[in-house]
Amino acid sequence: MMHRLLLLLFFLPVISLQASAPMTWRGLMLDSGRQYQTVECIEALLDSMAVRGMNTFHWHLTENDGWRMAVRFAPRLTSVGAYVADGPEQQGFYTRRQMKHIVRYARRRGITVVPEIDLPGHSASLISAYPGFGCSKDVVCPANPDLLPFLKRVLDEVCDIFPSPYIHLGGDEVNHSAWRECEACQHLMQEKGISDEASLQVWFERQLVDHLARRHRTAILWEDVLYETSAPLPPNLVVQWWNYRSKGELGLREALSRNIPVIMSSNYYCYLNFPETPWGGYGRERTCTAENIRRNPSYKLYDPQNQLILGMEACLWTDYNLTQNLLGERLFPRLDILAKQMREP
Ligand code: ACM
Ligand code: ZN
Repeated sequence: MMHRLLLLLFFLPVISLQASAPMTWRGLMLDSGRQYQTVECIEALLDSMAVRGMNTFHWHLTENDGWRMAVRFAPRLTSVGAYVADGPEQQGFYTRRQMKHIVRYARRRGITVVPEIDLPGHSASLISAYPGFGCSKDVVCPANPDLLPFLKRVLDEVCDIFPSPYIHLGGDEVNHSAWRECEACQHLMQEKGISDEASLQVWFERQLVDHLARRHRTAILWEDVLYETSAPLPPNLVVQWWNYRSKGELGLREALSRNIPVIMSSNYYCYLNFPETPWGGYGRERTCTAENIRRNPSYKLYDPQNQLILGMEACLWTDYNLTQNLLGERLFPRLDILAKQMREP
C-alpha cells in the first residue's frame, strides 16, 4: 500500500505538469492595414507579449485600402497603399530595414513574426496600385497571366525579410461574385475544368502555397477556404479557425476531419477589437467582457493530445478607426486572460 502511495506521489507532479503544458502557438495578430502603428508601438506590443509568455506575432500587413510592406520591385504598392486616409494613423508603411528590425527585436524576446499578405480578397490597395490585377475593386483576377508571377515575387520578398516557417496568405471573405461576373475568370475555369468559384479560390491558393513550399515555408489560410468546395486543399497548409459567430465550431471540426493543423481564434472571444462596452460600429451584441473570455471556445476545445491543434491566437483588427492610441485599452486586461489560457490550457 505504502509502495503504491509513494509511486503515485512520484508521478503526480509529472501528470500535473503535462496537463498544463503551454500551447505551442501563443499568438497575437495586429491589423496594420487599416491603421498604421509606429515601429515603437510594435516594439511595445512585443514587450507586452514577451512578459505574457506569448511567442508568435502575426502581422497583418495588408488589408483593404492599406498595404504597409515595402516591396522593392513594386514600389507602387506602398506609394499608393500606404495612404489609407488623411489621419496620421492611416498613413505609413514599413521599410525592409524596419521589418527586419522588428523580426530581430521579436526574436530576442522569443517571438516569431508571421507576416500576412491577405489575398485574393481584401486587396483594394493592390488593385488601386495595379488596376489590371483586379476583377472588382477588391478581388484580384487569377486569370490575369501577370498576376501570379507578380504575387510570387512579392512572396519571395516576404520570405527574404521574414524567416518564419509560416507565412499567412489570408483567403478570408472573398466575394466570389467578382469571379462569376469576370469573363476571363470564367474562361480560366473552363480551361482548367474548375466547376465553381470556391474551387477557383482553392486553385489560386495552391499556386501560392506550393510556391511557399518550394521555399520551405508553410502557408496559413483563414477557415473560409474549407467551404463550398470539394476541391482538395494543398498539403503543407495550416488553417486558422475564426468565424465562431457565424459558423460555430465548424471551421475547427472541418479542418481536423481533413487532417489539417489548426490555429484557434474563435472570434468574439479571441477578437479583442470587440470592445468590453459598445463602441464605434460595435453594438452591445458585439461586446466581450473579461468574464466572457473565460468561456472562450478556443480554450474549452483545446485538446493537448491532438497534435493537429497548434494553439491559440488573439486578434486585434483595427476597423472603425481603432487607432494606435486606443490599442492599449482594447488589449488589456483581456489579453492577460487569453495569454494565461495559452500558457496553462
Ligand atoms: C476575419 O476576421 N475576416 C479573418
Ligand atoms: Zn477575373
